[in-house]
Amino acid sequence: MLSISVEEFLIWKKKQLSKGGEQQAFALLLDCMGGISASDLNLVNINLEGNIQLKKNLAFLESIWNDHLLKSCPIQYLCGITFWRDLKLKVTNKVLIPRPETELIVDIVFNIFRKKSEKFFFAELGTGSGAISIALALAYPFSDGVATDIDQDALEIAIKNYINSSKKSNLKFYCGNWWSPLESFKGKLDLAIANPPYIPKDTYEKLPKEVKNFEPKVALLGGEDGLRHIREIIQKAPLFLKEKGWIILENHFDQGEKVKQLLIKNKFTSIEIVKDLSGIGRFTIGRYK
Ligand SMILES: C[S@@+](CC[C@H](N)C(=O)[O-])C[C@H]1O[C@@H](n2cnc3c(N)ncnc32)[C@H](O)[C@@H]1O
Repeated sequence: MLSISVEEFLIWKKKQLSKGGEQQAFALLLDCMGGISASDLNLVNINLEGNIQLKKNLAFLESIWNDHLLKSCPIQYLCGITFWRDLKLKVTNKVLIPRPETELIVDIVFNIFRKKSEKFFFAELGTGSGAISIALALAYPFSDGVATDIDQDALEIAIKNYINSSKKSNLKFYCGNWWSPLESFKGKLDLAIANPPYIPKDTYEKLPKEVKNFEPKVALLGGEDGLRHIREIIQKAPLFLKEKGWIILENHFDQGEKVKQLLIKNKFTSIEIVKDLSGIGRFTIGRYK
């Protein structure tokens, strides 16, 4: 640990933020690389005469901040960490950085399976960092889950995140195209969840460079109309879900109605488009018959 005066630290912090970037990204850098949490920062502000302990020196932290600003590389990839719900997750450029709006998927599940002692079997297709599945496996210790991804490198990150977050073994990981690694679970699922790649091709080309240049294309692009993967997932879901089993899909801001129609066409009922905190119809849910 390095000790520097609060005064020096605050002058340095002000200088870094004056170069640009978001306060939240800077807080992540300080927390993950500098070892200064949000509560440490509050203490600093009421102890202007004191010293502060840093895990890395200011020059090192500044070089990461400069990289973030100059190359538009997400701070989460530079630090190798992101926070999502109450999880601290490892991330590399092989996985999508789990988004705050996706956190609501877990609350949707909490609404369906209300008791944490419930025993159900869930699958998450396209798990990426493992965020959703790990949150569910932790919240429902008597339930079991399977999480898949087409990318073995992504799965390895998810597995590490699970091992770091849980002492249990109620979540298993499989590599492959959507449902294909889950053949042996046909007709056994109470719940299927996916936040699949759903960005239409034209929109993908125009994504901000911090997304397009750094996050995996395989995690974002959903074909010409964005619905390629959602279609495939919904069409095969009836083979894997139990009668009355649930499906929860995240979709692009304007896809809710189309996803609803796809669900109706494939014999789903109780369909609902659930809004995110910005009022966008971000999730479409339904039950198989
Ligand atoms: C939008 S990301 C979601 C990641 C994570 N579930 C989350 O919410 O942060 C989509 C994920 O689907 C995976 N994926 C893409 N195509 C796939 C396919 N054909 N089969 C299985 N997984 C796929 C990607 O590798 C990526 O991890």
